[in-house]
Amino acid sequence: MAVAVIGTGKIGSTLARAFGAAGLETVLGSRDPGAVADAPVKVVTVAEALAGADTVVLAQPGTAVDEFLAEHGPALDGRLVVDAANRLAAPVQNSAAEVAERAPGARYARAFSSQGVEVFADPLIGGTASDHLFSAAEEDRAAVEELISAVGLRPVYLGPDQYELVDRALWIWFRLAVAQGHGRHSGFRLLTDSDAPGSDARD
Ligand SMILES: NC(=O)c1ccc[n+]([C@@H]2O[C@H](COP(=O)([O-])OP(=O)(O)OC[C@H]3O[C@@H](n4cnc5c(N)ncnc54)[C@H](OP(=O)(O)O)[C@@H]3O)[C@@H](O)[C@H]2O)c1
Repeated sequence: MAVAVIGTGKIGSTLARAFGAAGLETVLGSRDPGAVADAPVKVVTVAEALAGADTVVLAQPGTAVDEFLAEHGPALDGRLVVDAANRLAAPVQNSAAEVAERAPGARYARAFSSQGVEVFADPLIGGTASDHLFSAAEEDRAAVEELISAVGLRPVYLGPDQYELVDRALWIWFRLAVAQGHGRHSGFRLLTDSDAPGSDARD
């Protein structure tokens, strides 16, 4: 997998560091590569990053995604777009519809959007890896699981076309982490019988 993380802020640099440390070929795409200090992986222009990638992680402000798509939509052809960006003030937080319209040759997944950067930087909470909910087409499930696992989180698949369900998890996370005071280093864990001691459960 060759990953381009677009946006060099908190989410972009945190995810790129984790992907790179896990051995994934990773670059950061920036509007101004020369201005980025202390990057965890190589920083190139957005166009260069997209050209070399099969997987593209959107880590810009949600308000910047339309401009990105207007300029770079055709360059997403054949790529898997993993959307971490939130349109927090909009009726819909994800950019699935906009990607479909501006980059019809791309595939789309929703991940890394529903928990704070603190969890991606330090995925163990009380010694246990947080679960991370995501939605993607079946054909892209394994690739997104690889990315989430690279960050140290346990991927939990909601199925295809469940982007707004992922977004609802964002608001639950916000409610608990911020309004209810549990703190931004908070996560969830799905419990099933296969987690029982002695079963051959996932980690
Ligand atoms: N922070 C969190 O806890 C968190 C958690 C989950 C999801 N998210 C989502 O992830 C995305 C990034 O969040 P963040 O906290 O990493 O934000 P951030 O620290 O402000 O970084 C955003 C980066 O996006 C790039 N960018 C591209 N177009 C931009 C524009 N018009 N204005 C400003 N920056 C622009 C910039 O990198 P270059 O200058 O190098 O291009 C910038 O460093 C957001 O959509 C946010 O909703 C954030």
